[in-house]
Amino acid sequence: MMNEAVSVSNVTKHFQQKTAVNNISFSIEKGEIAAILGPNGAGKTTVISMILGLLKPSEGDIKLFNRVPNDQQVREKMGAMLQDVSVMPGLKVNEILELFRSYYPHPLSMKELVALTALTKDDLKTRAEKLSGGQKRRLSFALALAGNPELLIFDEPTVGMDTSSRHRFWQTIHGLADQGKTIIFSTHYLQEADDAAQRILFFADGRLVADDSPMQIRSRIQKQSVSFTLHSDESLERLSRHPEVEQVIQKHKRTIIHTSNTDKVLALIFQENIHARDIRVEQGTLDEAFRQLADGIREGI
Ligand SMILES: Nc1ncnc2c1ncn2[C@@H]1O[C@H](COP(=O)(O)OP(=O)(O)OP(=O)(O)O)[C@@H](O)[C@H]1O
Ligand SMILES: [Mg+2]
Repeated sequence: MMNEAVSVSNVTKHFQQKTAVNNISFSIEKGEIAAILGPNGAGKTTVISMILGLLKPSEGDIKLFNRVPNDQQVREKMGAMLQDVSVMPGLKVNEILELFRSYYPHPLSMKELVALTALTKDDLKTRAEKLSGGQKRRLSFALALAGNPELLIFDEPTVGMDTSSRHRFWQTIHGLADQGKTIIFSTHYLQEADDAAQRILFFADGRLVADDSPMQIRSRIQKQSVSFTLHSDESLERLSRHPEVEQVIQKHKRTIIHTSNTDKVLALIFQENIHARDIRVEQGTLDEAFRQLADGIREGI
């Protein structure tokens, strides 16, 4: 309990007829990097908004550092970047940053903020309403960091970032994680969750359908197979008896074995003395796996 940064217990959120979040529970420990992964409409923004105290759960309970989200002490420890970036018009970037810094007891220095977010001298002198989409993201990242928070929450932080901004962003995030900060971010991309997080909370249709390490999630949903050609009269009966051989398919004169343990299947081929030739081990792409998982859940599989 001492090490819990976020605790979500049996939380549901209804909007009129729509159940956006359906009885979810999870907790995130201090120092973790956790990804909230899911397709459009999965409930990611709703969950994040409730963690931030911007929305109230219809049912259930959320605690941050063992306190309610709107607690002043909690607010001082938290920084967030939302999906819709809105900035204050009329003020220059450096003025907005100074203002935000003044809200916090132990803010980062301007120099630190600039270094962490790659805001340029020109950015700092620009009025908020004149910023490009990417510059706005950098500003809102800087605002999230202004109070030197312990807990950082980002709703789809890399949307609209070009490749190098994205790379820089994740480098900064890993640096912050190394300092012991707790980081929660949402994303549509399994690859991004896999690259950046130690833990993936997979949402679909308002439900939390998986909560595990990227490796576990990958191995659960990413299809793997061993394929080969056989001498025409070879029987696979011996091989099929092993539980690791999940499915055997014949396609284009090749035999394909679906399995979650390709090493074991390779060993079995030799052990059972199957005369397999031209053996290939294949893995579906992550995006394919993600799409199948999300679609499967939508269809109630
Ligand atoms: N204020 C609201 N009123 C009514 N329905 C809402 C409201 N906010 C969200 N919803 C609905 O709740 C569901 C979850 O929405 P949410 O924004 O949390 O999804 P998301 O996972 O963040 O999606 P995206 O990837 O598109 O950002 C959607 O069906 C959405 O239409
Ligand atoms: Mg969203």
